[in-house]
Amino acid sequence: MTTVLVLNGPNLGRLGSREPDVYGSGDLAELDRVLSAAAPAGWTVELRQTDDEATLMSWLHGAADSGAPVILNPAAFTHYSYALRDAVALVTKAGGTVIEVHISNPHAREEFRHTSVISAVATGVIAGFGFDSYLLALHAIGLRTA
Ligand code: DQA
Repeated sequence: MTTVLVLNGPNLGRLGSREPDVYGSGDLAELDRVLSAAAPAGWTVELRQTDDEATLMSWLHGAADSGAPVILNPAAFTHYSYALRDAVALVTKAGGTVIEVHISNPHAREEFRHTSVISAVATGVIAGFGFDSYLLALHAIGLRTA
């Protein structure tokens, strides 16, 4: 049984109503349904969201201990949280997988979004495909665990 953690950072709990022109009209419950439907047999997708940096870090610490692969949308923390970066590094340097995902393409947006302090320590990065960014990440985890 593989459990994939899908961790979402600040303001992503507002998906559905938050800037639908940028993030689409689907909410987190829909993302959960889409990912659960796409998960291979025997896999569990555990989707979580928090606006709290410390909570996100504690979830990553848990992944470092359990070895669960992680799909992480760090949201705005992407651009400035060295604490989150260190927590991601803790997982990946221990041999774990953390795929950084973004619904939008931050590189096509404001200048401050062009920097990710997470990417250099993530296993890989997928951005700009809407909810499909998460599906592509799930697929990548499947390729790595095959
Ligand atoms: C985001 C992009 C970030 O720049 C932004 O702060 C978010 C969402 C995305 O999924 O496109 O909250 O991570």
